[in-house]
Formats: sequence, C-alpha cells, structure tokens
Amino acid sequence: MKEMKEYNWAVLGCGVIANELAESIKKHGRKLYAVGNRTYEKALKYAEKYDVEKVYDDYMDMFMDDEVDIIYITTPHNTHIQFLREALSRGKHVLCEKSITLNSDELEEAIMLANDKNVILAEAMTLYHMPLYKKLDEIVKGGRMGDINLITINFGSYKKYDMNNRFFNRNLAGGAMLDIGIYALSFARWFLKSKPEKIVSQVMYAPTKVDEQATILLMNDEQQMVTIALSLHSKQPKRGMISCDKGYIEVMEYPRAMEAVVTYNETGVKEIIQLGNTQDALWYEFEDMEKAITGKKNHMHLDYTKDVMEVMTYIRKEWGMSYPEEE
Ligand SMILES: NC(=O)c1ccc[n+]([C@@H]2O[C@H](COP(=O)([O-])OP(=O)(O)OC[C@H]3O[C@@H](n4cnc5c(N)ncnc54)[C@H](OP(=O)(O)O)[C@@H]3O)[C@@H](O)[C@H]2O)c1
Repeated sequence: MKEMKEYNWAVLGCGVIANELAESIKKHGRKLYAVGNRTYEKALKYAEKYDVEKVYDDYMDMFMDDEVDIIYITTPHNTHIQFLREALSRGKHVLCEKSITLNSDELEEAIMLANDKNVILAEAMTLYHMPLYKKLDEIVKGGRMGDINLITINFGSYKKYDMNNRFFNRNLAGGAMLDIGIYALSFARWFLKSKPEKIVSQVMYAPTKVDEQATILLMNDEQQMVTIALSLHSKQPKRGMISCDKGYIEVMEYPRAMEAVVTYNETGVKEIIQLGNTQDALWYEFEDMEKAITGKKNHMHLDYTKDVMEVMTYIRKEWGMSYPEEE
C-alpha cells in the first residue's frame, strides 16, 4: 500500500483548541511544522512545548511559506474568512475551526477559492470524524432500525457573562448558534436524508445582545423532523436521540462521542455500541484531512458543512441578528 505523505501543518492561533490538537497528534507521534499567533510570545511557548520547528514573527508569513501544505485556523469565528482568503488563494489546504465562517456568503466565497486552487477546505467538526458515527451510519443504512423519523438534540453550557472570552462577545461572533448550535445541526445533518427546508425557531438574547438560548424545529422534504434546544447560560446534557420505525439510538456527549445505545422496540433489547476514543477526536480529524488530500475523497463532509451553514444563516436572518462584520 502507498505510504501516506506526512504533510507540513501550520497552526494559526495557539489557544485552547490549538493546544488540544498539538497534544492529540503528539500522542500519535506527529508534530506540527509551524505556528503563528497574534501574540508572538505565546507562539514561542507553544513551539517549545510541542517541538514545533518554525515560529513566524509575523503570523501572516505563514500564508507565504512554500513549505506549508495545510493550515489549521483556530482563531475566533469572525476572523476566519480573512485567513481563509489568505490561505486558499495561495493554494494551501485548510482545516478551519467551527464555525468555519459567519454565514453562507462567506462560505461560498471560500469554497470558490478552494475549487479554483483545487485544494481541500474543511471545517473541524469533530463528530464527522469520530469512528462511532461511521458505525451508526452503517447500522441505519443496514435497515434494521427502519427509517429515521425524528431527531431530538440538546446542548447547554453554563458560561458567565464574561466579555473577556468569545462566548457572549458580539465582536468575537459569540452566541449559542455559532458556538454550540453548529454541533447540534451537524449531528442532525449526519443522520438526515437531505437538508432541512422548513425551519422555525425562538431566540432569547443575552445582555450582550448575542443569542443566549434558542429552540429550533426543522423538517426536510422526506418529512424527517428535528428538535433542538440550545443554551449558553443553562446546563443541559449534550444528548442526541434518533427515533426510527423500529427503535431509537441515544448518543451522549455527541460532539466527541465514543458510545451509543441502540434500543430495539420489538424486543426492548439495548445494544451498546462503543467505538473510537473521545481523547482522540482531534487526531481523527487530522488523519481524515490528510486522507482527503491524498485521495481527494469526501472525508471532510464539506457538503454537510454547507447545509448547516445555510440553516444557521437563515435562522439568524429570521431573528434579525447580525455581527458587526455583516452590517
Ligand atoms: N472543535 C472543538 O471542539 C472546539 C473547541 C473549542 C473551540 N473551538 C473553536 O476554535 C476557535 C478558537 O477557540 P479557542 O477556544 O481555542 O479560543 P482561544 O483559546 O480564545 O484562542 C484564540 C486564538 O486566536 C487568536 N486570535 C484572537 N483574535 C484574533 C485576531 N483578531 N486575529 C488573529 N488572531 C486572533 C488568539 O491570539 P492571542 O494569543 O493573541 O490572544 C488565540 O491564539 C473558535 O472558532 C472555536 O469555536 C473548537
């Protein structure tokens, strides 16, 4: 079998998620090639900690570096499009943290740039890469559960109204939809036959004017339905349930799930499916990105990313909620 090439990765930003990625790939014997960050000192520390070969004095140099194959963007949502433009227009493959862009217009622009340069563009949506979801897909497609009729999803974190972090900060594209709603919608899209066309929702705003809490109802042309409850100021379990003709599947901690319980109606039998490891979520993503580049296959599910972004864009428009960059 052909050996897979070890690509040169550069990470932009070195906050929480960039550290998680570096830890995760280190465990699997891989290193990043380069790091660039707005605060240079943090990049230096990051490079030291994870044995990264190159640190840019000016992080914008990353886009010009011929040695870089893949750029992993880990800055706040509202900054993504400007870095996507820089990276894609120079022919770099890009793995970009969620939410990949603020809205569908920005995403369309990025997709056009990627197509133009024939490079892979992907959103770092962990659940698309967890082995468990590939197995659940097989179970559903195998027909034992019958059709999927209804999907119910919760996601609630309790975050303080602290403007020093991005969660409630409108200038950093905070709010429940882009931060956690995207997981619920991606979970739904993984199992739905097609993109939801009918969409209704309710929203409650935080004092900072970003969406704090929302409920969303969706239906696609196949009449599969979805209900979602989100909150950034009220704890809920991260729980997804897929109800089918012949039973239901429950997934706890669904963004990085490694276990699901399948219950069959007729017998009441519960089957526990365990696959993959939550700790390796970012490693699966990293591996799939390299596979996608090598084989140009649909390992990254940009089609789902696009559908999810369209739903989020539609809902925020309905609410009349925009970010400074959109005004
Ligand atoms: N996939 C997941 O499970 C997961 C989990 C958490 C977060 N995320 C996503 O990852 C992204 C970052 O989240 P995080 O929690 O890692 O954030 P974080 O810890 O606050 O780190 C943000 C990084 O972005 C840099 N940055 C901030 N504003 C910038 C700007 N205007 N221009 C250039 N660089 C800028 C910061 O640089 P300084 O050092 O100079 O401040 C820092 O390195 C978000 O899109 C988030 O949704 C994903």
